[in-house]
Amino acid sequence: MTGIDGLDVLLEGGIPKNHTVLVAGTSGSGKSIFSMQFLLAGAEKGEPGLYITFEEDEESVLKVLEEFSWNLKKHIKADKIRIIRYDPYRFQDIMDIISSNIKQMGAKRVVIDSISAIGLYIQDVREIRKTLVDIQSLAKSTGCTALIVTEAPSDNPKRLSRFDVEEFVADGILVLYYTPVANEYTRSIFVWKMRGTSHSKKIHPFKITKDGITIYPKEEALVKL
Ligand SMILES: Nc1ncnc2c1ncn2[C@@H]1O[C@H](COP(=O)(O)OP(=O)(O)OP(=O)(O)O)[C@@H](O)[C@H]1O
Ligand SMILES: [Mg+2]
Repeated sequence: MTGIDGLDVLLEGGIPKNHTVLVAGTSGSGKSIFSMQFLLAGAEKGEPGLYITFEEDEESVLKVLEEFSWNLKKHIKADKIRIIRYDPYRFQDIMDIISSNIKQMGAKRVVIDSISAIGLYIQDVREIRKTLVDIQSLAKSTGCTALIVTEAPSDNPKRLSRFDVEEFVADGILVLYYTPVANEYTRSIFVWKMRGTSHSKKIHPFKITKDGITIYPKEEALVKL
């Protein structure tokens, strides 16, 4: 169980333990909020979570999240959620950073936000693929469930990722859409794949409010892709 109600319904119980799951979506589709909520839900049921960010420092990550009714600070103070800002220029030691933090805090959930940011510094697709495989095996060997955020190109939302390699490695793929329907943009989520589950094959609406993301598993979204 992820602890995110609607998501657990779509996945008929949640993300299987030790899976590495891609969270794909265009800019602003809600990937970071979704991923942090995954860690928060974990922390609340005693599963510590590690959040590796390349894009912002802990302060600015927190500032955005302060808008929400979540009690994030409490979990950070108790070391149930750790936010680590990582400089992609020092990419060589990323695996050590992830591994030592997982061990120190006994993390059961890990978020990498995002692999696209890594791609700005590593041009070689084979190296990106290797990094993904390394993160996946680290997650499996430490008993963690991992979310890897990847930015989908907004000019072609049918492509899940920039490098077209991520999807082949992952155990599961969740796609977050932010698309126009008539005169407004709406949010929806689709389980592209999730090994080992009989998951929903429909696109479902979700909302972002001050309580975070709410998925409506009984509703279907009208999305033209
Ligand atoms: N407190 C809030 N209440 C409602 N909606 C919010 C709130 N905070 C953020 N949002 C919405 O969430 C969007 C950003 O979500 P998020 O940062 O998770 O997206 P992202 O997919 O990670 O984007 P990026 O690609 O830029 O990293 C904002 O553009 C805004 O529409
Ligand atoms: Mg983000």
